[in-house]
Amino acid sequence: MTHSEVHSQPQAAVSVGVARESDPRELRVAVVPDSVPALARLGVRVLVESGAGAGAWFPDSAYEQAGATIVRAGQASGADVIAGIGAPAPEQIARLRAGQAVIGLLRPLTRPELAGRLAAAGVTAISLDGLPRTVSRAQSMDALTSQASVAGYKAAVLAADHFGRFFPMLITAAGTSRPASVLVLGAGVAGLQAMGTARRLGAVVTGYDIRPETRDQIESVGARFLELGSVASGAGQGGYARALSADEQAAQQAELTAEVARFDVVITTAQVPGRRPPLLVSAEAVKGMRAGSVVVDLAASSLGGNVAGSAADQTVLTENGVRVIGAGNLAAQMPAAASVAYSHNIVALLAELIRDGALTIDPADEIQAGVVITHQGKVIHPQVAALLQPATGGVPQ
Ligand SMILES: NC(=O)c1ccc[n+]([C@@H]2O[C@H](COP(=O)([O-])OP(=O)(O)OC[C@H]3O[C@@H](n4cnc5c(N)ncnc54)[C@H](O)[C@@H]3O)[C@@H](O)[C@H]2O)c1
Repeated sequence: MTHSEVHSQPQAAVSVGVARESDPRELRVAVVPDSVPALARLGVRVLVESGAGAGAWFPDSAYEQAGATIVRAGQASGADVIAGIGAPAPEQIARLRAGQAVIGLLRPLTRPELAGRLAAAGVTAISLDGLPRTVSRAQSMDALTSQASVAGYKAAVLAADHFGRFFPMLITAAGTSRPASVLVLGAGVAGLQAMGTARRLGAVVTGYDIRPETRDQIESVGARFLELGSVASGAGQGGYARALSADEQAAQQAELTAEVARFDVVITTAQVPGRRPPLLVSAEAVKGMRAGSVVVDLAASSLGGNVAGSAADQTVLTENGVRVIGAGNLAAQMPAAASVAYSHNIVALLAELIRDGALTIDPADEIQAGVVITHQGKVIHPQVAALLQPATGGVPQ
């Protein structure tokens, strides 16, 4: 087992810098004031850029009261470890020096070139998206889960907000309204939270996933499992879905087109790691929906989404009166709750990585093997390194 330390002095306190996120739409912050005492117990000194928590309603004064030091813009990047939500911006990377570490959701499988840049700068890149999620020791660090859960909740609330009718059945003197029918495609963390939330709002909820083992989970949140006959099990590695063949995708889309038309609201959450999100709801399926229906595509991104024509952070009203919401980064729309959960994940990760007062990198450890992307000038994560080879670069279809 090889241990290499980012720090030379084992007993020295580790400083963690919290920079303002570079994306103006990113309102979350990686460390909240409540986490500062927990980090201090690990021997961590927290440096927070002034205003870093403002978007999530955590003022500088709350960080100071918790024991953090407020620094000017740009100064957090001098810390031993820079904790963020998204990837650092090019100007932030330019300020980094060899031996520093960056922690965030860096998406190295879809942005391998960023890993290449960080490796070249001698920066240790630690990306929470690579966490081995079935390792029970890793669950408290699972930022994908904590953020997907927030996003799934928000997707259901957003759908209810845009739907011109009630979600619950209401019996009043002015008449009775039938409950909304909601279909959620993809039953991972976000999908199950969307189902549970829509159910709590009173809708009649149906859920579908390509992995048959999700049936019990869908039913446990009070939804009905939608069975499709066209595609065989889509279970892949590590509890994730596999990518479908072109024929399977076409068959799935055709079968879903008939199903989708029956629902008032469709929320899509399907993802396959390191791939473009699968297209589940075709243009024809959207055309078949009733006027006033709402579609929320949680998978909408620059790489495409689960719904034809959806785009991240854009809402489209189709000619047949269907509102298609490309949800983009929904966790950032609930910045306080999302930041609190993310910050707990960061504390748990640092508790794992700090040994004898120093950040200790051990790529042989099963958790670190997933999250440590670059170290000592090299891209050490095999999948990311493979993507940087000229012959295999780019995001697979
Ligand atoms: N502590 C743990 O053990 C733990 C924690 C979190 C997640 N997990 C597991 O990890 C897995 C992934 O969770 P996630 O929320 O990150 O998933 P994800 O965001 O990668 O994908 C969301 C869902 O989309 C589904 N999907 C993909 N392609 C599809 C298609 N063509 N049609 C329909 N559905 C499709 C996937 O099966 C998945 O359930 C799940 O098995 C989850 O239970 C385990």
